[in-house]
Amino acid sequence: MSETFETVLARRTFLKGAAAGVTWLACPARGQAGSALGFSPILLLSQDAVIVADGYSAGVVIRWGDPLTADAPEFDVRNQTPEAQARQFGYNCDFLGFFPLPGADPNAAGLLAVNHETTVGAIMFENYVAANATRRQVDIEMAAMGLSIVEIRRGARGWEYVRGSAFNRRLTMETEMLLTGPAAGHELMKTSYDPSGRRVRGTLHNCAGGKTPWGTVLTAEENFHGFFANRNALPAGEVRSNHERYGVSTGASSRRWELHHDRFNVTREPNEPFRFGWIVEIDPYDPGFVPRKRTALGRTKHEGAATVLAPDGRLVVYSGDDQQFEYVYKFVTRDRYNPSRREANFDLLDDGVLFVARFLSDGSGIWVPLLYGFGPLVPANGFFSQADVLIQTRRAADFLGATRMDRPEDVEANPVNKKVYVSLTNNTQRTAAQIDLANPRANNRHGHILEVTEAGDNSAATRFRWEVFMLCGNPHNPADAPIYFAEFDPYQVSPISNPDKFAFDLQGNLWIATDGQPGAINGNDGLYAVPTEGPERGRVRQFLSAPMQGEVCGPEFTPDNTTLFCAIQHPGNGGALFTRAVSNWPDGAQPPKPSVLAVTKNPGAGSPVIGS
Ligand code: FEO
Ligand code: CA
Ligand code: CA
Ligand code: CA
Repeated sequence: MSETFETVLARRTFLKGAAAGVTWLACPARGQAGSALGFSPILLLSQDAVIVADGYSAGVVIRWGDPLTADAPEFDVRNQTPEAQARQFGYNCDFLGFFPLPGADPNAAGLLAVNHETTVGAIMFENYVAANATRRQVDIEMAAMGLSIVEIRRGARGWEYVRGSAFNRRLTMETEMLLTGPAAGHELMKTSYDPSGRRVRGTLHNCAGGKTPWGTVLTAEENFHGFFANRNALPAGEVRSNHERYGVSTGASSRRWELHHDRFNVTREPNEPFRFGWIVEIDPYDPGFVPRKRTALGRTKHEGAATVLAPDGRLVVYSGDDQQFEYVYKFVTRDRYNPSRREANFDLLDDGVLFVARFLSDGSGIWVPLLYGFGPLVPANGFFSQADVLIQTRRAADFLGATRMDRPEDVEANPVNKKVYVSLTNNTQRTAAQIDLANPRANNRHGHILEVTEAGDNSAATRFRWEVFMLCGNPHNPADAPIYFAEFDPYQVSPISNPDKFAFDLQGNLWIATDGQPGAINGNDGLYAVPTEGPERGRVRQFLSAPMQGEVCGPEFTPDNTTLFCAIQHPGNGGALFTRAVSNWPDGAQPPKPSVLAVTKNPGAGSPVIGS
């Protein structure tokens, strides 16, 4: 490469007429003590508690095992059953989507859609042996993953969930779903359970997600590959090489579900992994809704599915493929959103174009379409239909010269300044020879954030400009250099590493949840906020700290921003067993429980979380 990040920054700073010689380590201080964010940052902490900025309170809304449906039993961790777990709140809560209820105050009642990304058998079960998980343990895990839909209300005691609400629902690895769009019915989608290639049981590793303008949930199937076993026992050929591109386990899977269910053993059901890795649409208002896996949006390890309406009314869905050296995607619907008739939008996500991003070294970028027959996506390269392109999204994107990124996590559009923010959580595998201007650090332990400006501020555009918004790290640790905070004085920001989930408040500030700080920056994971415009652009400040080994997920605001929900995933994670996990959160007891929090400003509800 011909330029480094530092030389590009120096040139840009010079062009702006700022002080000559400004570098990423010594920018002019612009921040003031109080600011638009209205809170003072907390320190990087390692406490087994949720700590929030002064003047705020956090309460638990719902926790692993809480009974959801009217027929759900009380949680009894030592006598848990799959049948009970399928009626109780699941494990490792991740994405949160808040949906107002008709006729109710949208800031005091609603439905919360919650992803349950993974399980941690060593903490969930007494006598858990990973290499020999029992049928009961496996079936509880399969019932603890998926999603919960739960009604929540704000009363005198704060936010609480409504046990037995008719809206409450669990979706698990046994819930019937449909495959829709171009890949439905394809030969590679057929199994002995489903000769039609159109019906799937369950959704797997639901990480982040999104909400459509018509009030449905989009949940993203991420690391599905690790649940399928024995790739190396398959004969060489198309199926095996595709599973290799996605990392399906070569031998035994980590959780050993294949010991009790043939569909996780690819020597028995070679096509089952092709039925995962999709964006799934669910209507949270209809407990009988059959979820749809929307194949038009491609098959990757989708981190999320953030939506934004283009000026002409088409819906755009952004999604990162969360693995080192994978790509950033967006999908643009063929048809326009119909705001006057909800049901008219229910198949909107079955037709459209999937694009993958190329970040060019001059600060421009191209969205390249993944269309059968376009460029190299032709029979000579093994693509015989659009279904082939979508099932093998990664291989198709390889042919299109997409830019290999540092683990793309959340990708979301800022509703205020219209720019799109790309979270790149880390990539310790990138070498000095592999850096480019969009991924400018070798051994990228701390991750970074890109800011994308779509041409004409039109999210459906095929061209964009981009720049680095943040190179994360600890400003006070020279070993973390180079760091960068949108030209803000790095000595006035909070240490931050491994950016992951994003949300925006009504003022367009970016909220960043982290995943991986304990191993990277010597503090617990946290939630941060950073202005994206104005004199404090780039001044990132820590707002919340998670308990030991817990990752912060969500985050999600109520419509008026008076409540900020976030999820704490895998507290106490780290190999310790059941009653000896490294966290007692949230109840001061073992085992710890992944839970959803509601954060409000003191002295009580009614003030926006942000602003004075
Ligand atoms: Fe589920 Fe990309 O973290
Ligand atoms: Ca996670
Ligand atoms: Ca998000
Ligand atoms: Ca993550």
